[in-house]
Amino acid sequence: MNPHVQSGALVAGFLGIRPICAAVGAEITGADLANLPDGEFSRIRDAWYRHSALLFRGQRLGHDDLLAFSRRFGDLDEAPVNENGKKFVDGYPHIYVVSNIPGPDGKPIGSLGAGEAVWHTDMSYLPAPPDASLLYSVEVPPTGGDTWISGMIAACAALPQALRKAVTGRSIKHDGTYNSGGYLRVGLPESNDPLTSVGTPHPVICIHPPSQRETLYLGRRRNAYVMGLPLAESEALLDELWAHTSRPEFAFAHRWRVGDVLIWDNRATLHRRDPFDAASRRLMYRTQIKGTAAPVRAL
Ligand code: SIN
Repeated sequence: MNPHVQSGALVAGFLGIRPICAAVGAEITGADLANLPDGEFSRIRDAWYRHSALLFRGQRLGHDDLLAFSRRFGDLDEAPVNENGKKFVDGYPHIYVVSNIPGPDGKPIGSLGAGEAVWHTDMSYLPAPPDASLLYSVEVPPTGGDTWISGMIAACAALPQALRKAVTGRSIKHDGTYNSGGYLRVGLPESNDPLTSVGTPHPVICIHPPSQRETLYLGRRRNAYVMGLPLAESEALLDELWAHTSRPEFAFAHRWRVGDVLIWDNRATLHRRDPFDAASRRLMYRTQIKGTAAPVRAL
């Protein structure tokens, strides 16, 4: 039983869908994710395909509720180990902890500490990265720690002609050495060489399977490499691409309250996190929906 769940059920009302910004995201109101009828879930899934990220406020989810809701989107990945070699919540191998809160050994019970997490999409260094990630907030700091979501379908549609031409048919190697907080992944050697670091190449412009729309699939900037180009040309092209996708009109910032659930489509979004005061506490539970296939190159 999750100790943070209070007794009492939410009163489900009429399901509302309100876009958060023009490029990406919608807030769903009136949904109780622990008691969701199939008809409401099918509207939620359609909204997720259309908006790429969904926010639900005021949820009360035990670990089993969180897993059951996440599984409605697909099979789940087991949680990877965090920077401290810790794996998961006892008895719940599919729940990953994002937290700066110290455990009995003095080390954080979760990953990413209190620092900034740079723009990225989750685990794209794998051949079949997770389709989606879902974050549920249990403790939040009074300020900071906002999560930003950026819409890659909108960013792709707005690519300047010359930049589109330069990346069409190209793949980027997505580095697996460091996570978005800059921590070395357990078991990997340090590397700052984009040519030789560990990773998997994926097409830059992909087809987002559910919507059949073009999306930019960038992973993270550090140690990225445009396959087949001399390193200096790769760096210049990546800088141009990231300057384009970092434009503010493609993104929104989510200010967390306890009980929020945010789910994003890793194939169609990037996300990042603001730093927060290390003396305050932040606890999030994350699940990941398994990737069904490697990202599909656009023709
Ligand atoms: C993540 O990058 O998966 C976590 C984001 C956050 O802590 O808000």
